[in-house]
Amino acid sequence: MDPKLKVACIGAGAAGTSHMVRMEKNLPGCCVAFSDLNRAAFDRNVAGYLGSGGDTSRGGDLKSSSFALRPEFRNLPYYQDPEEMLRKEKPDVVIIASYCSHHAAAVEICTRHGVNIVLEKPIAITEPDVRKVWALLRNYPKVATVNLSLRGSPVSESARRHIQNGDIGRIVSVQFVNNVHYGDNYFRGWMRTHKHVGSLLLQKATHDLDLINYFIGLIPESVAAFGSRQVYGGNKPNDLTCDACDEKRTCFMSIYRRKVDASKPFPPPGKRLCVFAKEIDINDNEVLAIRYQGGVTASYSQTFNAPHHGGQRGGYFIGTEGILDFRYYGDFEEHPDTGAYVKGTSTIKITRFNDRPGSSLTEVHDWANVGHFGSSEHLGEGLIKLLQGGQSPINAPIRDGYISAMMCLAADRSINTGNVVKLDLDL
Ligand SMILES: NC(=O)c1ccc[n+]([C@@H]2O[C@H](COP(=O)([O-])OP(=O)(O)OC[C@H]3O[C@@H](n4cnc5c(N)ncnc54)[C@H](O)[C@@H]3O)[C@@H](O)[C@H]2O)c1
Repeated sequence: MDPKLKVACIGAGAAGTSHMVRMEKNLPGCCVAFSDLNRAAFDRNVAGYLGSGGDTSRGGDLKSSSFALRPEFRNLPYYQDPEEMLRKEKPDVVIIASYCSHHAAAVEICTRHGVNIVLEKPIAITEPDVRKVWALLRNYPKVATVNLSLRGSPVSESARRHIQNGDIGRIVSVQFVNNVHYGDNYFRGWMRTHKHVGSLLLQKATHDLDLINYFIGLIPESVAAFGSRQVYGGNKPNDLTCDACDEKRTCFMSIYRRKVDASKPFPPPGKRLCVFAKEIDINDNEVLAIRYQGGVTASYSQTFNAPHHGGQRGGYFIGTEGILDFRYYGDFEEHPDTGAYVKGTSTIKITRFNDRPGSSLTEVHDWANVGHFGSSEHLGEGLIKLLQGGQSPINAPIRDGYISAMMCLAADRSINTGNVVKLDLDL
């Protein structure tokens, strides 16, 4: 391993700090600085890893399993201005995990300094910014990768291999759903406004659409979509939290009811805003129809109002010779205090036309205690390979983040105009 890799981060919140910590786990001593509007989230996360109070749970699926993080990590040089950080610290890798609305500006700074770039998804949230990121990085001579974090899980890799090997023949169509059983989470913090995330398609579906593209290996051509907000938003003050609310013992969405009735752990303090606030202006359910090269079709739908045990993510990949039934959530169970998945399995079931009636191929993939269905550690290792000049197909190139972001923007445009949107990808 290259002990000289110098890693910095722009936007050291839950994701950014978790990425830095994972880099430290793989390459101790590699992180040199971070930049953020304020350092509160970094301090809280790092204190958690160092066992001095704090809270690592905000890292969610990106959180690393415990290891001996060096105590000096908490004293990494901090900058408010990312440009100044790059000028003074001269890192050779920069992780970008600021608000999605800031990604394009951060990419622009990084390209001026010629550093390797690890960009959180979505690559940006407006069409001009998404195209700008693509223009800046399409022929970039350094590493530029986007963290599409469902790739690299054993079940994703296995499904992709089956489809690419022709185990269900030639792909004909896909039916994919994401019923998010922690959907309220997105409405309890900054991700609930168009200004910051664009839409929950850009925030969430960007992963699923990328997976469909990655598994079937085809380029999407056009998208039609519908969407609306049915559950979240309302007339409550924007700064109201469940803690301060008079209805906290009676409200169906209250974090207190979820704790008392359903044993769900309390979210961290920054994620306790009322889900019926005025400022909420994004859809909470969407349905897409997609046409790919050669007339292959896909349907995709996401909702943010699935009950805990109703969480589903996956779908059917239908081929000329059979069907691959792909499910991220098989059997799963969260720890009532920490929210960690103490039990988690994903499944693949392949059924083929000429199988005998009782035959099928079934796989079960265990991901208990490893984030993103078992992918987080694999992607962390893959990233090091990329940064050391090697190959890691599971770490997505910017092109793939660009395509899935453009699909989300096309779906948003279709929802707003009522028209089918033809993709103009300029690959
Ligand atoms: N790939 C994944 O699975 C995954 C998971 C979670 C989050 N994310 C992505 O990571 C990014 C951050 O999300 P998060 O959950 O860590 O949020 P967060 O709120 O915990 O962290 C975001 C941080 O960015 C900082 N920030 C905002 N604007 C900034 C700016 N202009 N300059 C510098 N810092 C700025 C904030 O102060 C905050 O500390 C988002 O783009 C999100 O989509 C990806």
